[in-house]
Amino acid sequence: MKIAHDDLNRLKSDADTEYLRYSKMDLRIDMARGIPSPQQIDLSMALLDVPLGNDYLSEDGTDSRNYGGQQGLLEARRLFSTLVGVPEDQIVVGGNSSLALMYECLAQAWRYGTPDSPRAWSQEPGGISFICVVPGYDRHFAMCEDFGIRMISVPMLDDGPDMELVKRLVVSDSSIKGIWCVPKYSNPTSTTYSKAVVETLASMPAAARDFRIFWDNAYVVHPLVEVDDSLENIYTQAVRHGHSNRPLIFASTSKMTLPGAGIAELAGSKDNTAWWLKAAALRSVGPDKVNQLRQVRFLRSPEKIKELMEQHRQLLLPKFERVHEVFNRRLGTFGVAQWTRPRGGYFVSLEVLPGTAKRVVELAAQAGVKFATPGSCFPYGIDERDYQLRIAPSYPDILQLTTALEVISVCVAKAAFDHLSAVASVE
Ligand SMILES: Cc1ncc(COP(=O)(O)O)c(C=O)c1O
Repeated sequence: MKIAHDDLNRLKSDADTEYLRYSKMDLRIDMARGIPSPQQIDLSMALLDVPLGNDYLSEDGTDSRNYGGQQGLLEARRLFSTLVGVPEDQIVVGGNSSLALMYECLAQAWRYGTPDSPRAWSQEPGGISFICVVPGYDRHFAMCEDFGIRMISVPMLDDGPDMELVKRLVVSDSSIKGIWCVPKYSNPTSTTYSKAVVETLASMPAAARDFRIFWDNAYVVHPLVEVDDSLENIYTQAVRHGHSNRPLIFASTSKMTLPGAGIAELAGSKDNTAWWLKAAALRSVGPDKVNQLRQVRFLRSPEKIKELMEQHRQLLLPKFERVHEVFNRRLGTFGVAQWTRPRGGYFVSLEVLPGTAKRVVELAAQAGVKFATPGSCFPYGIDERDYQLRIAPSYPDILQLTTALEVISVCVAKAAFDHLSAVASVE
């Protein structure tokens, strides 16, 4: 971008003055993680009052209070079946965290291999790799790092991952055993994969016959727009193309009900669920079925879930609108930043002047606003262009959020003008 010398000096001096003003306000705002606000959590407090009393048997007669029921209660599996589009007998419902299920799948494949693996993933000569769509979810990348799985970055496009690149990599490199996907309102770009992308993922040839799609459908019922995006069913497509074992589909009620006390599921082919259940029996004598019953009796049906998610939407939408309003007012005319306008999910992806993202975060932290970890949306925490930051507006109240956004905007502008004038002075 090109700004005239005098204009740049003036913009830089204005940004310095503004920054100094906010620095003196002794702010302490932490909005680094995308977690539901107390008001959102309050929507599900009735969950704790669901009377189980003498009514603790599941539909199929399982005593929810006792050991056993490794696959999860029938009614919990049925409820998830309506959300993820996989038959209820091919769903496992576990504890509160879908991330834990993902980790355990990875660990299981690492130790034993999948039903299609020639050997345990840990025993593959030369190691294994995963495709990571960037910018993406830091906790997925952290899991790969934990296991020593190589990460190969593929850019996110408007309709999902760059599939030309994914196809080329997956067909030619047998060390690639998986891909992380957040297919709906993805974290952090809020992208919903198109039908064509889902079909290609399900049908493309893979050099590794045990290639797996880790389909993290964390935002399956989380629109911010009135009409929810529709997502093609990866399982149906995989079956159609003869790759029924390829997708491992995860979801949870964490961001529908109480994040610390939701229920999570893994869905997939019969082979995959049987594989999972075999190892699960070693780990535990069964999941918390009392909570499964409570969750099902609270959420009741897809229609009720929709009503609840509409209440979440009403609480979240003004915050996401505020992000756009403040960024647009503060940064819209300078051309030093751009940001997404999410249709759903929990995040806004902010792109600042390349070379300044770290500095923006540093400046904001010095002014009392903690809002992002630079590089966190990239494997190994490395954003080579130092340009991308994740904004999570859900938790703070609207006043705090507005202040934080004003500070972030000033920091984006200050870092950009400092950078541009430093570059101009050496030219
Ligand atoms: C993409 C994605 N997957 C999973 C999770 C966590 O899900 P759970 O609470 O079910 O472990 C999050 C939470 O932010 C997320 O953004």
